Amino acid sequence: MRRARIAPSLLSCDLSRLREEIASVEAAGADLLHLDVMDGVFVPNLTFGPVLCAAARRVTGLPIEAHLMVADADSLIEPFVRAGATHVSVHVEALIHLHRTLDRIRELGASPGIAVNPTTSLATLDEVLPHVDFVLAMTVDPGFGGQRFIAATRDKLARLAALRDERAPHLQLAVDGGVDADNASGLRSLGIDVLVAGTAVFAAADRLQAIRALRGEES
Ligand code: DX5
Ligand code: ZN
Repeated sequence: MRRARIAPSLLSCDLSRLREEIASVEAAGADLLHLDVMDGVFVPNLTFGPVLCAAARRVTGLPIEAHLMVADADSLIEPFVRAGATHVSVHVEALIHLHRTLDRIRELGASPGIAVNPTTSLATLDEVLPHVDFVLAMTVDPGFGGQRFIAATRDKLARLAALRDERAPHLQLAVDGGVDADNASGLRSLGIDVLVAGTAVFAAADRLQAIRALRGEES
């Protein structure tokens, strides 16, 4: 089984202590940081801009993924990459000229990913896969942390893993939403590379233990 990388989602951290929160998950073994960017249009919540990304960049060397849950991702890509985002994911449901958008992310020096909502068909990825480094499969309807993992997405994740093995072996698969120690082992056995986790990491009393449990390393 692959070793899953863990991406704590800063949406669930105590933002009044951003530096300490990042240091704590970094010390606990986080592999990258996940930044949920919401515009109040594509999703019913409003969160972070590039300024917050730049603040995080100043206090960590970890890769930062900007997950753009916004209607107009094109105007935000450059500001986020300039603010230190190393990975940028955009939603397949939000964009019309995806080829241009994904190319732009790469041209700016970041790694492009495509995010898909729970009920979006994998068929929409057919022509997109050659242009991305990773797929971010949503396992909740995006907008909020702390939601319940939608169990019906498991079958889709298995099909996505099969598609990767068949067509794009270098594609990284990430899962986002309601990931916890209970469902993580099933996700790892499907071949998921990156587990995004907000509540399961930041609400845990022992974050080192929480991250180890997500990786299946608990003793
Ligand atoms: C949902 C976000 C997720 C969220 C995950 O819209 O994209 O990244 O922060 O939080 P948990 O792990 O609490 O579901
Ligand atoms: Zn996210």
